[in-house]
Amino acid sequence: MAELHETDWGEERDYTLGSPQLQHVQLRSRIERDLTTLVEQLTARHGCCRALEVGAGHGTFTRALVSAGATVTVTEMSEPSVRVLKQAFAENPDVTVLYDPEGDLPAKLAADFELAVFVSVLHHIPNYVGVVRDVIDRMPDGAAFYSAQDPLFYSRLTRINAALSCVAYMLWRLGQGEIKRGLATRWRRLRGIYDETKSADMVEYHVIRQGVDEQALEQILCERFDDVRLWTYWSTQSGLLQRLGEQRAAGWASTFGLTAVNHRRQPVVPVRDPAHPGRSTKQKTSNSTELDPAVSVG
Ligand SMILES: C[S@@+](CC[C@H](N)C(=O)[O-])C[C@H]1O[C@@H](n2cnc3c(N)ncnc32)[C@H](O)[C@@H]1O
Repeated sequence: MAELHETDWGEERDYTLGSPQLQHVQLRSRIERDLTTLVEQLTARHGCCRALEVGAGHGTFTRALVSAGATVTVTEMSEPSVRVLKQAFAENPDVTVLYDPEGDLPAKLAADFELAVFVSVLHHIPNYVGVVRDVIDRMPDGAAFYSAQDPLFYSRLTRINAALSCVAYMLWRLGQGEIKRGLATRWRRLRGIYDETKSADMVEYHVIRQGVDEQALEQILCERFDDVRLWTYWSTQSGLLQRLGEQRAAGWASTFGLTAVNHRRQPVVPVRDPAHPGRSTKQKTSNSTELDPAVSVG
């Protein structure tokens, strides 16, 4: 898998191309704002914020985390990207970059971090639910989790959102050239044929399969965090369609993020609410020094 990532995410790769969260200033600024708010809240609570950023690419959001005052450990599956990151942050003692060809470092390291960050990464990980579970199981009390820029589970998209996402992608693809290759790949995918030796079929793993199951992730986060927010939004590569989709009235959504704060080492146990049999609420074990959900992002 690491070799396939390295084919796609080389040193020369322009990460902005095909990455709406880097291309469109509104999306990038929102993620930067969210991360800044989280780092500030966690620093106020713990006296420091050690952030674990999985799959940093060329470091756009690493810079936001560091500027907000975090010390950041990056794990990257692409060795060329590791080289770029090490060079970019060579002078910065607050950033440590680790090469992670197996993708197993986040779970091993999670106990030492107040914040775990996955921006545009979960859809690259075949077993993303297992990876997130392993990370959050080990995080310390009071920690936070943040993810953004993953495609919503396709089977839950409304027809209009599914069609819009598909059209927006195809229009962007046409603008990139390689039309013949794009159509051939599309035709293979429509027939459910995936080639494990091709980066086109393996790197964007859940983009080309079924999207990412936002509800499964929300559910496992709810077992560990007191306040979990799932936020959905529109994102696409095409600048014109991005602007159109952002019009409030449009109501388009293709993508999601998750923000979870107030981590508990002990899983949060759902209890029956006697006033509303059928409805369950969370059992809280403490109410001190919690992050204020009213100012948390999402
Ligand atoms: C779409 S890029 C996103 C980069 C960056 N987060 C951003 O938003 O600009 C995905 C990155 O995740 C890396 N990646 C994919 N799976 C990974 C894993 N399991 N562990 C660490 N890095 C991973 C890839 O090598 C690539 O650099």
